[in-house]
Amino acid sequence: MLKVGLIGVGGISGAHIPGWLALDGVELVAICDIRPEQMEKYPDIRQYTDFDEMLKNEELDILDICLPTFLHVEYAIKAMNNGINVLCEKPISLNRDDVKRVYEVAEKNNVKFMVAHVIRFWREYEFVKSIYESGKYGKLLMGKMVRLSAFPRWSWDNWMRDEKRSGFVPYDLHIHDLDFMVYAFGNPKKIDSRRNKSSEQDYINVTYDFGDFYINAESSWFAGSYPFTAQFRFLFEDAIISNEGQGLKIYENNGNVVSLEEAATGDTGEINLPKSGAYAEEIAYFTDCVVNNKPVEKVKPDELETVIDILNNL
Ligand SMILES: NC(=O)c1ccc[n+]([C@@H]2O[C@H](COP(=O)([O-])OP(=O)(O)OC[C@H]3O[C@@H](n4cnc5c(N)ncnc54)[C@H](O)[C@@H]3O)[C@@H](O)[C@H]2O)c1
Repeated sequence: MLKVGLIGVGGISGAHIPGWLALDGVELVAICDIRPEQMEKYPDIRQYTDFDEMLKNEELDILDICLPTFLHVEYAIKAMNNGINVLCEKPISLNRDDVKRVYEVAEKNNVKFMVAHVIRFWREYEFVKSIYESGKYGKLLMGKMVRLSAFPRWSWDNWMRDEKRSGFVPYDLHIHDLDFMVYAFGNPKKIDSRRNKSSEQDYINVTYDFGDFYINAESSWFAGSYPFTAQFRFLFEDAIISNEGQGLKIYENNGNVVSLEEAATGDTGEINLPKSGAYAEEIAYFTDCVVNNKPVEKVKPDELETVIDILNNL
């Protein structure tokens, strides 16, 4: 049984903890947050308000880092230097040099490290990647990706409202779509971006030119209480793949409309999509890499560097 610890029991931990609790072969033995009240709803898991205490008292195989962005590198390095495998929330850092640093520490300590880029495990996005690779609907012509929300007012110590600590919209929201593009389509050849930033709003609109096709991505924290929205539409030669509030639909040029479920269980058997939630999938994937000593191939350091390089120029 692998022993798992999690640090940072805030917003996103609510998506990670159920993933650990549902996974066979692991036990979430301890959680850590400087605010004890954050941990009250997990009375069956040992609790710490100090990470060093947790390290001293627990023998962890995996640490799941759900801390605010500016603390990721420091805690990842400390854990790995204690021989612990690390799964870390995105982004690893706002600084590209940290990527090399973190992977060097992982190698030196012979432990695994992965940034939890959850969209790489999200079935709707995985589906687009698989269609792009199979060529089933011809060439990709263009894409539109959208990720919008209200300006965050909930984070601990308002760290998200401090650009130096959070990186604002590029590193909070846009990173998900850009990371997916780099993962699925490679490096863009040309980038054209616009940004409207003020103390209460951050809107970016970027067109990534990949040569044969382009993708326009819109990401924002709006001053108004705009609902969280994550959508996409990809236009292929023979179909539109749309994930715009109705679930994933494929509008084929011949008039057929196919849902993701129908496509995933179709006769061809060519698509093998995960059935459970993406957070549980990324947790299961990383655990499998640790247990079976497999390379963590799904999230590569050079792709992380590319994404940081692009985000720092938006
Ligand atoms: N993958 C996703 O879909 C997704 C979604 C939201 C956030 N995130 C990422 O998750 C990270 C956390 O975001 P959040 O929204 O959960 O933030 P949050 O502010 O809600 O939670 C952070 C928690 O860390 C705790 N904390 C702060 N310093 C600490 C320390 N030194 N030791 C122990 N605990 C400490 C805080 O008390 C707080 O409970 C960010 O990096 C963010 O980019 C990812």
